[in-house]
Amino acid sequence: MSADNPFVVLKEEMDKLVVGHEEVKNALLLGIIAREHIYVEGPPGTAKTMLAEIVSGAAQLRFFFYQLHRDTRLSELIGDLVISKETTDTGEVIKQKVVKGGILTSEICLLDDISRAPGESLNVLLRILNERKFFDESIPLLTAIATSNPTADEYYNEPLDPANLDRFVLQINAQGLSYGKKWEEARQVIKLYTENPGEYEVPARLSREVFDEYYEKLGSVEIPIEVQEGLANFVATLIENYGCNETNSLISDRTFFVKSLKIMRAHALLNNREQCTVEDLRALKYMTAFRIPEEIFMQLDQILDELTAKKKKSRTAGAN
Ligand SMILES: Nc1ncnc2c1ncn2[C@@H]1O[C@H](COP(=O)(O)OP(=O)(O)OP(=O)(O)O)[C@@H](O)[C@H]1O
Ligand SMILES: [Mg+2]
Repeated sequence: MSADNPFVVLKEEMDKLVVGHEEVKNALLLGIIAREHIYVEGPPGTAKTMLAEIVSGAAQLRFFFYQLHRDTRLSELIGDLVISKETTDTGEVIKQKVVKGGILTSEICLLDDISRAPGESLNVLLRILNERKFFDESIPLLTAIATSNPTADEYYNEPLDPANLDRFVLQINAQGLSYGKKWEEARQVIKLYTENPGEYEVPARLSREVFDEYYEKLGSVEIPIEVQEGLANFVATLIENYGCNETNSLISDRTFFVKSLKIMRAHALLNNREQCTVEDLRALKYMTAFRIPEEIFMQLDQILDELTAKKKKSRTAGAN
């Protein structure tokens, strides 16, 4: 990210309190700029909640936090249901009204443990997130951050089904420092809490206007033909050369041929550019963690290296 970019201040606040987790931090920035939802999966206690709180605090966005559980009712997510009884000439009329709250009035929301929600509430929740509307009214939400522990028997949760998972354009696998064997970063956390054992406060650093200004800019970020080609080649490579298919992957046309453009544009804006370059194809990494098999995801840097190098070479060749 360029040092004079307005969103640097959010990164600074995250870096002050959370060591490592660069991918989660970058995905949070891309998500709020592009107004796309984020899914973060990671073991307990790996600062997922904390990072979302820091961003919303520093960006002065209205924050809604909800911990989903097996009995989550829809009203807990969208506000209070008020039931009233009126007596008219013809009898009594019972009316039900929603006093909006929760995800309907927030600008950024954190849905912790999304995989624990019961199907009924989850479906309505995801529909609202997807349409960004409640009945006919638009909601002010920029981005929803859903977290989940890894889906395994020991966590008592079920994976989101692919159609639901695909609603979260950005997807990050947040490994803990200890199991990730990141001992240097672990030492830094210990040092941080040795020096500052107390509560933390997040100062206000940015305002909603900046997000609106950048969202307007987003649509006019140019995507040159070589980047369009690079994107098409990326998807083709995964399917033709790496064996990604319907049974092992989630490569939807919507996500890769439409939504990914927004993410690459946001990536360009974070680097103070109003035109995408092949470097922005690197942002595809923030979208693929749970969309392709793990062993292929582990080779993603290399796949992207090849793709961006090839493009650069052909551009130089073309210039000669
Ligand atoms: N990388 C880190 N840098 C600094 N502090 C950390 C880091 N990882 C964990 N912590 C500390 O651990 C606490 C736990 O983080 P948090 O509650 O955000 O985890 P979580 O991933 O949301 O956990 P859960 O899955 O249980 O909801 C943080 O508040 C922070 O104090
Ligand atoms: Mg949490």
